[in-house]
Amino acid sequence: MVLLRTKKELKTFLSSIKENDELGLVPTMGALHQGHISLVSKAYSENDKVVVSVFVNPTQFNNKEDLKKYPQTLDADMKLLSKVSNEIAVFAPSVNEMYTEEVKTKAYEFDGLDRVMEGEFRDDHFNGVGTIVERLLRLVQPNRAYFCKKDFQQLQIIKKMVSLQNIPVEIIGCPIVREPSGLAMSSRNERLSKSLRKEAAFIFKTLKTAKKKFGMNSANYVMNWVENQFKKHPDLKLEYVSITDDETLSPIQRKKKNTKYRVFVAVYADDVRLIDNIALN
Ligand code: PAJ
Repeated sequence: MVLLRTKKELKTFLSSIKENDELGLVPTMGALHQGHISLVSKAYSENDKVVVSVFVNPTQFNNKEDLKKYPQTLDADMKLLSKVSNEIAVFAPSVNEMYTEEVKTKAYEFDGLDRVMEGEFRDDHFNGVGTIVERLLRLVQPNRAYFCKKDFQQLQIIKKMVSLQNIPVEIIGCPIVREPSGLAMSSRNERLSKSLRKEAAFIFKTLKTAKKKFGMNSANYVMNWVENQFKKHPDLKLEYVSITDDETLSPIQRKKKNTKYRVFVAVYADDVRLIDNIALN
């Protein structure tokens, strides 16, 4: 395993790669779990070389406490990655390396993709994500970069940013890896008590039933139904439920033929914020 701590080390590594080798990038904030590993395995199966970035990006945290609490477990991350391949390069820079002048975001125009759901509830979050992902893509210059549909809005926003900035990379959207209970894997799950982690399986169970109900009912009916399910749950607090067009992420008005829809939720279990989504058709 190669550990690269600076942009200079990264450049030296990249210049050692053969000209025709294809390169995959998997951006992460570390505290890796099997979900991250699935992205890395896919990247490794589709490219000759893989760079995994591990960087807790301060500009995408609207909540300072959340940033402080974010787990940093580089040694364990390296061990987990070495099981996929010993040839993976890990780029784990410091904040000063990535933000040489000011720790500041760039302002993007995401055509409204950033104004709904996570954007509405997390101020400036997507400008922070865009800023760091653009920097990583420009530094690493991969052929392909891998992101998961668990953060579906992030995935769509990154696709938009790449097309607006004309960055020559293929953005690959990958499936959500779940715990056996159905709970979407997340670094935040570690902060749940044992009993709450069990109860959080209710989130995916509710989404799956919502999908069944969407076939025969209006979107409003389904969203109300989801809200009511969470109202009845003593330990999980729904922040939002939204059914949107899969591409534009604009809230559904009336079901249209040949349009794909998706239902999204954000839920608090104690002070732990969990998100999940499922394709409806
Ligand atoms: P992070 O939360 O570490 O996630 C890194 C990648 O892992 C993202 O593409 C995310 O969608 C994916 N991921 C998360 N949970 C997953 C799961 N259960 N199954 C499969 N993949 C999963 O997302 C970020 O970091 C940051 O915003 C980043 C893009 C790195 C920019 O800082």
